Amino acid sequence: MVKTILTVATVAALGFSTASMASGEDTYNNLGCAGCHGTNGSGGFAPELAGLEASYIVAQLEAFQDGSRVDGTMNAMAPMVEGMEQEVADFLAAQK
Ligand code: HEC
Repeated sequence: MVKTILTVATVAALGFSTASMASGEDTYNNLGCAGCHGTNGSGGFAPELAGLEASYIVAQLEAFQDGSRVDGTMNAMAPMVEGMEQEVADFLAAQK
């Protein structure tokens, strides 16, 4: 709860859309991305995503979706983010 309040305050201070950020965070957590990429994209089993350019993250998710970037895990995971690519990318880009 405290963390949620801090996140919202940080996001508001940075001038991003709070609603969009929150749903990107929810999507990231609900789909289990954190299980490999760590809390808030801090890394772990899979590469760190925190602080990457949002446009780069969106491009990678689309590449995993259309198969132009091949990774067994991400080719299965990326389609689940369909329609939420930008929100998830904005959330991760703002984590550093
Ligand atoms: C089971 C583990 C696992 C899960 C769950 C997972 N990923 Fe990944 N992800 C990986 C691995 C491994 C790579 C590196 C693939 C490669 O080497 O090309 C990767 C790569 C990526 C990249 C590219 C990073 C870069 O630096 O180019 C993005 C973006 C990404 N994942 C986003 C996500 C999102 C968003 C989710 C949740 C929908 C997710 N991943 C869930 C394992 C996972």
